[in-house]
Amino acid sequence: MSSAEQVGGAVAALEADLRGLWADPPNLPPRWFYDERGSLLFDEITRLPEYYPTRCEAEILCTEATGIVGDASTLVELGSGTSEKTRVLLDVLARRSGGASTSPGGALYVPVDISEEMLLASARAVDAEYPGVRVEPVVGDFTALAGSLPGTPGERLVLFLGGTLGNFTEAEREGFWRMLRGVMDAGDRMAVGFDLVKDPARLEAAYDDAAGVTAEFDLNVLDVIGRTVAVRGLDRADFRHESVWNADESRIEMWLRAVRDVRLEFPTLGRELTLAAGEGIRTEIARKFTPDELTAELSGHGFAGRAVWTDAAGDFGLLLAEAG
Ligand code: SAH
Ligand code: TRP
Repeated sequence: MSSAEQVGGAVAALEADLRGLWADPPNLPPRWFYDERGSLLFDEITRLPEYYPTRCEAEILCTEATGIVGDASTLVELGSGTSEKTRVLLDVLARRSGGASTSPGGALYVPVDISEEMLLASARAVDAEYPGVRVEPVVGDFTALAGSLPGTPGERLVLFLGGTLGNFTEAEREGFWRMLRGVMDAGDRMAVGFDLVKDPARLEAAYDDAAGVTAEFDLNVLDVIGRTVAVRGLDRADFRHESVWNADESRIEMWLRAVRDVRLEFPTLGRELTLAAGEGIRTEIARKFTPDELTAELSGHGFAGRAVWTDAAGDFGLLLAEAG
């Protein structure tokens, strides 16, 4: 595909997703956060004092690496980002496969991410660091996997880390499990990171840090829109970032609130969006779970729970399940 076609594809895809701006409440799917700048800002978020999930999940992965990898010969990681936390699992995979990956059945790592620059740079780094592991990055949307996953049936481990699962709505999550079960084979396993319900003040701070990095990450999506589609009246100074706990839905919601009356015109869509001061666009949700509800949900989709671990402080969970 030429880069002009890719850009054209992005324009059409964003224009389709912008329809959410006329829903109630106005909302946008999260994948538009992760342009090159957004991916770098997210990497910064993972190191913020308020953002505990990355450190907690890394702790679980370090402690349980052998049990998580088990007999897997292929790791397929959805939304792999920098692949930073994955290295402890790649260590196990590389050690077990012993030396260079010569046989076609050897160790394989397939990072899947929509953020092309970040994905390819991270894949190159892993490739150089792990001569015993074949690395085959896939640039694409992890909600639309089709066919069957790379690797040997029954020997795959699908990784879905970072609490990215929480960024789906309830309906999207149902669809995701159905799709995922369809591209996996019996005996394949998956490890899913999920954030646990806890004190709302800590949750809200994790998505609204004192240094303002998360606010910048949220506002960056306006720059992506302004750069990708035709729009008049868009000024990021008209919006402020907000993170609120929605107890009824068990989720953090991120909003870009209009600080004054705003009118956005989208000439190619033939539509305009008006927001009164105080109204907003919901840019992200981050669902928080209990281990039992997630295990039950998965068993309804053909995945048997094998283990649930949390970090020592009990802030974040990792669920290991097997496709039946
Ligand atoms: N796994 C990493 C990154 C989590 S951030 C970690 O735990 O730190 C979410 C990642 O998913 C980003 O790298 C983003 O680019 C990617 N992503 C978001 N939506 C996606 C989609 N629909 N398809 C593929 N990748 C997506
Ligand atoms: N998967 C991450 C999470 O829900 C994504 C994330 C963290 C995020 N901080 C954010 C998304 C701020 C948007 C804005 O924890």
